[in-house]
Amino acid sequence: MGFEKLRFHKLTNNEMFKKSKEFLQTMERRRTVRDFSNNDLPVEIIKNCIKTAVTAPSGANKQPWHFVIIKDPKIKSKIRKAAEKEEKEFYSHRATKEWLEDLNQFGTNWEKEFIDVAPYIIVVFKKKYDVGEAGEQRKNYYVNESVGIASGLLLTALHNAGLATLTHTPSPMGFLSKILNRPKNETPYLLIPVGYPGLDAKVPIISKKTFNEVCNTV
Ligand SMILES: Cc1cc2nc3c(=O)[nH]c(=O)nc-3n(C[C@H](O)[C@H](O)[C@H](O)COP(=O)(O)O)c2cc1C
Repeated sequence: MGFEKLRFHKLTNNEMFKKSKEFLQTMERRRTVRDFSNNDLPVEIIKNCIKTAVTAPSGANKQPWHFVIIKDPKIKSKIRKAAEKEEKEFYSHRATKEWLEDLNQFGTNWEKEFIDVAPYIIVVFKKKYDVGEAGEQRKNYYVNESVGIASGLLLTALHNAGLATLTHTPSPMGFLSKILNRPKNETPYLLIPVGYPGLDAKVPIISKKTFNEVCNTV
């Protein structure tokens, strides 16, 4: 409780222009990668990026998230198996024709080899509610928005650290709660393989909407 002085570092317009432009150029190089190398990297780098993610704002500062870092090949292989089972259903029955047509350009299918290959998988969980000391349910607010912002910071931090990521949403993802032994108040939100891209990794040629299509000034 109480208030403290804000730590604020004022920049000149020139510094702000330069920093914003440089960061834009860094982020313009981020792409979703589906072909990973199995080269290892120190877990501390992954932890630093998750520490960045949890600086995110959240509804009433409830921080309604939990992150699991998966390194164990046996657990990865269980996850791959379960994800592929769901994805087989998705690609053969569950997805609508329109959805499959929209996915066509990415060349994706039910196979999820990257879950075994990438050195780390991060699973993000959202917490619908918290559990108090007496076992009572405590409300969380704007859970989707909060976890979405934290996940965005995570992807940004991983990219900024020089790593490739895939934002993966095997549908549905309930099996992750079971395999990772997470409590009932947590729901899987994203599965993020992280590592270096494969040597010959290719990405689909896609375009982003123009700035004027997505933003206007009044
Ligand atoms: C919420 C969300 C779910 C996604 N789910 C998948 C997925 O399950 N499998 C996949 O290959 N890509 C998935 N993607 C990646 C998108 O296809 C990708 O971000 C988009 O095509 C834009 O490409 P880019 O990230 O390289 O800019 C997902 C992205 C988001 C934001």
